[in-house]
Amino acid sequence: MSHHRSAPILPGVAFITGGARGLGLAIAQSFAKEGARGIVLFDIQPPNTMTAAHASVSQFLIPDGKCLTIHGDVTKEEDLERAVAETVKEFGRLDYAANFAGVIGPLSATWDTNLEDWRKVIEVNTFGVWLSMKVQLKQMLSQSSLSDLEPGRVEQRGSIVNCASVNSIQGGAGTTGYTASKHAVLGLTKAAALEARSQGVRVNCVSPGFLLTKLLEPAMKVAEGQTSAALAGDAWEGYERRQGRKASFEEVGDVVALLCSPRMSLVVGHNLVIDGGFTINENPT
Ligand SMILES: NC(=O)c1ccc[n+]([C@@H]2O[C@H](COP(=O)([O-])OP(=O)(O)OC[C@H]3O[C@@H](n4cnc5c(N)ncnc54)[C@H](O)[C@@H]3O)[C@@H](O)[C@H]2O)c1
Repeated sequence: MSHHRSAPILPGVAFITGGARGLGLAIAQSFAKEGARGIVLFDIQPPNTMTAAHASVSQFLIPDGKCLTIHGDVTKEEDLERAVAETVKEFGRLDYAANFAGVIGPLSATWDTNLEDWRKVIEVNTFGVWLSMKVQLKQMLSQSSLSDLEPGRVEQRGSIVNCASVNSIQGGAGTTGYTASKHAVLGLTKAAALEARSQGVRVNCVSPGFLLTKLLEPAMKVAEGQTSAALAGDAWEGYERRQGRKASFEEVGDVVALLCSPRMSLVVGHNLVIDGGFTINENPT
């Protein structure tokens, strides 16, 4: 008997918040390439973006695989409950979740920042991740594990990857809301990981470095001429130099998908940095 592994490593059902574009979409594509039979994209994007995302994931699906798009807001518990119920109705279960819905929020000094803008970034990036996780965990804890994926390992009933950022470790002037929201994701990931580990569900988070997605457009606009901002001047080039190079979205997608594999069985409550060495580089360039 061959000891080489050849079957898909992620044959289950994946649920991705913020899945309609950017890093969330890249994660969905990675799940499809690793053989997931069901993929759910949950997002507030309009129908045209959802349709394009559906098509770009579908091209990678296994023959019997299916992609669902569900419109909803991660700050609304009823939207998430409806989405998980639809997922289970369609696929019978939910094995992997990636919580990547996020916004950048206000980019201004504390003394110039409006409370409502600050509250909004915390609401989406922190409350949204916590709420998503709450609803996903309830489903995962109610199901048995997928059998025989990794014989001899502890059973995995589910795996959740939350989106933090290098701003879960570091800060930048003009980013108090974003930085606070991402530090909080790290904290809630650790606590939930300890709650769920004895029940066969792993919870981790990842911290991507610098990828030029639409999330950063507001920051780039500020950089084009106006006030202080994390991306002012040639800051972006500086970030990429410190990161070592330009990063591609699929490099984040693959890490998130692989972190959901039962082969990662002992990885619990971890913050996996995906930044080309940015955070360990003492040199700014
Ligand atoms: N781009 C980077 O360099 C970078 C670095 C570190 C972390 N991140 C994080 O990655 C995640 C994805 O961001 P991205 O860079 O792909 O940007 P993006 O703007 O392309 O994607 C974010 C997605 O989240 C969705 N979204 C926003 N608010 C929502 C809500 N209330 N409910 C449902 N969906 C909502 C958006 O519609 C969008 O599709 C974010 O959490 C972001 O903080 C990005």
